[in-house]
Amino acid sequence: MTILEMRDIKVQFPGVLALKGVPFDLRAGEVHALMGENGAGKSTLMKVLAGVYTNYEGSITYKGEEIVSRSIPEQRQRGISIIFQEMELLPNLTVAENIFLGRQPTNATGTIDWRRMNRDARELLDRIRTPIPEDALVSHLSVGQMQMVEIAKALSFQADVIIMDEPTAALTGKEVDGLFANIQDLKAQGVAICYISHRLEEIRRIADRVTVFRDGGYVGTRDAADLSVDEMVSMMVGREMDDYYPRVTVPRGDVVLELCDIRRGHVLKGVSLVAHAGEITGLYGLMGAGRTELMRAAFGADPYDSGSILIDGVPARIRNPRDAKRHGIALLTEDRKQQGLILDFDLNKNISLANLKAAMGPFGFDERKESRHNQELADSVRVKTPSLRQLARNLSGGNQQKVVLAKWLNTDSKVFIFDEPTRGIDVGAKAEIYRIMNRLKQDGKAVIVVSSELTECMGISDRMYVMHEGRMTGLIEGDEMGGLTEETVIAYATGTKTTQSFPEEQ
Ligand SMILES: Nc1ncnc2c1ncn2[C@@H]1O[C@H](COP(=O)(O)OP(=O)(O)OP(=O)(O)O)[C@@H](O)[C@H]1O
Ligand SMILES: [Mg+2]
Repeated sequence: MTILEMRDIKVQFPGVLALKGVPFDLRAGEVHALMGENGAGKSTLMKVLAGVYTNYEGSITYKGEEIVSRSIPEQRQRGISIIFQEMELLPNLTVAENIFLGRQPTNATGTIDWRRMNRDARELLDRIRTPIPEDALVSHLSVGQMQMVEIAKALSFQADVIIMDEPTAALTGKEVDGLFANIQDLKAQGVAICYISHRLEEIRRIADRVTVFRDGGYVGTRDAADLSVDEMVSMMVGREMDDYYPRVTVPRGDVVLELCDIRRGHVLKGVSLVAHAGEITGLYGLMGAGRTELMRAAFGADPYDSGSILIDGVPARIRNPRDAKRHGIALLTEDRKQQGLILDFDLNKNISLANLKAAMGPFGFDERKESRHNQELADSVRVKTPSLRQLARNLSGGNQQKVVLAKWLNTDSKVFIFDEPTRGIDVGAKAEIYRIMNRLKQDGKAVIVVSSELTECMGISDRMYVMHEGRMTGLIEGDEMGGLTEETVIAYATGTKTTQSFPEEQ
């Protein structure tokens, strides 16, 4: 049964026609995936439906009646709830307060009934099988946990339609399983779910139907069961993509970065790693293995208890990110909102932030030179925007990630650490980012890629380390890379197997 039908939806932003008149419909109890490259218009359409953008043209029929989408509360009242791609929780309130913000249960005297609010919150959190305490402050949660709170919040509005915009981007494998179990429950209750994700395997696992957009236009709607991954990709990018992981061969150079026996509490239990110039070094591990922590230690973002860092064979004192930058280390983080971008600055400024020197002309700061240079950088990662004067806030999620990349390419670093570089990035742009890594490799840089996507990590790395619970358990290099199977890597990552050269207790 069709419960929602959107027809000929058009949305114009200054300089961008985000949606050119597209259709979309939903049936009760289905998961309908919305796919397309970064900037295709997916989030925009969902924001129209959720009452965020009201400047749309076209018609919406919901439960047989024509409706006008005027505001978020009104749409929620109708049973249409959205989980935003960029999280909107208030950090200084508790989990329960966030879930019931503005509609806290009150008791007879009109004051907030804390006990009931906490109990109701607990119930919702249990329903999605998450152990987060209901009275924890949101600022103490991980990004993944915040996402679970968002989901609990959406559930709290008796929704018939739930919109999930890249809900798994920051979740661990276990949390994803929990979410999918929830989605199955919701489906069984007749709830319709709009699901946006760039992860093709997820779509194959969870979606009943798939609609693809390209450049604000409608490409088509298909049953997920009849759609192969290759077909999905060619619908999205408008051409066949054969080479997901382009490779270049470069003679390997000297060791540039060396981490020796880095220790930090229970998180890093004596970890060593070397990265060569002209090589892509992969670092794989399950969530919580300590990969990000190790890279943050190398970048001076987190302190470590003992161990040493050598750059070009010379011990380096790296106590903060400034030291790291001075030694030529760049870290591209997974969390663009917290560490990568200033959302209220335009793109030009954001790109310039990492390296103001690049914009210096003979007579001091040269604004024209800056813009030209930044435009080249933005083009090289294919940022989709009408101009660099656009505020970072107004870019689609994936395009924000590309700006972070452009910003770091703007430094003359010799070690580039990419932490989950393709999270939230569409397939076409992913290949583009792999090309950028290859270019850095050809330029003689040492590239380190932290990834929890196994196929990606295996596909682009020349050499690969695997971590498990704060220890290095696997190192795969040379000929071993050729015959490497996923099973082997997972055996290292789960600690059931250890490379000979790594002693059991380091
Ligand atoms: N508030 C806004 N002001 C101006 N332009 C906007 C605004 N929101 C979105 N856009 C533009 O509209 C287009 C569609 O963006 P949208 O966020 O819908 O893409 P998306 O398909 O969700 O992409 P992603 O996969 O990267 O999240 C993009 O070109 C984006 O820059
Ligand atoms: Mg989006």
